[in-house]
Amino acid sequence: MWSFPRIIAHRGGGTLAPENTLAALRCGLAHGFRGVEFDVMALPDGALVLMHDTELGRTVSGSGSVVDQTFASLSAADAGAWFSAEFIGERVPSFAQAAQFCLQHGLWMNVEIKPLPGQALMTGRSVAAACASLPADAVLLSSFSAEALRAAQAVAPEIARGLLVERLPPDWHQQLDQLGAVSLHANAATLTAAQASAVKRAGFGLMCYTVNDPAQARILFDWGVDAICTDRLDLITPDFQ
Ligand code: G3P
Ligand code: MG
Repeated sequence: MWSFPRIIAHRGGGTLAPENTLAALRCGLAHGFRGVEFDVMALPDGALVLMHDTELGRTVSGSGSVVDQTFASLSAADAGAWFSAEFIGERVPSFAQAAQFCLQHGLWMNVEIKPLPGQALMTGRSVAAACASLPADAVLLSSFSAEALRAAQAVAPEIARGLLVERLPPDWHQQLDQLGAVSLHANAATLTAAQASAVKRAGFGLMCYTVNDPAQARILFDWGVDAICTDRLDLITPDFQ
């Protein structure tokens, strides 16, 4: 079952703002989105931040591994200059800042747990603990890491969980059952109509990432997909049919 938004802004603002920043969340909100996806990583010092890559350089100024960062050092870096001059000075937000923004503005959160290598257990626990005080209908945790989702389940079983996959594994149903997951989050590029219908028949929610072509979005919804995550906030709007 899927009782969450149908069109979700990927990394906050998709192609319209620097990913995983407060500016991105503001952008998603300004475009009328009611749901956002963003990536949350636990740093070695325990801080939870919005971050996709394990290396600096692509979206955050500097170089080297996030493993060598503290919250103080990472949040001093620039997370907007890579995107455009308008966003110079944008920072890597803490999860608490992002969650507060979303709660304030009624934005539903798909929090993707993105552990640093070897940190799935700690990250899953920590993200779930940070979400435990949020309204249960305000958030869904997802991850490619089953270990992170299991850890989240142990800490805050009441928070909805979804398993992210690049390709549907043969034992997807068993995995979802074992994780107590409400949904499967599938790569739109690899999902087939038959798989979509099997997931729906089994009673799970089905979300597809990352869908940037309106024609593809229509096909997926025809297949019974419940929700899509998009970078193209300009092409696939929240009222997309
Ligand atoms: O949650 C959907 C999508 O964000 C998963 O892939 O690499 O963009 O985090 P990625
Ligand atoms: Mg993500």
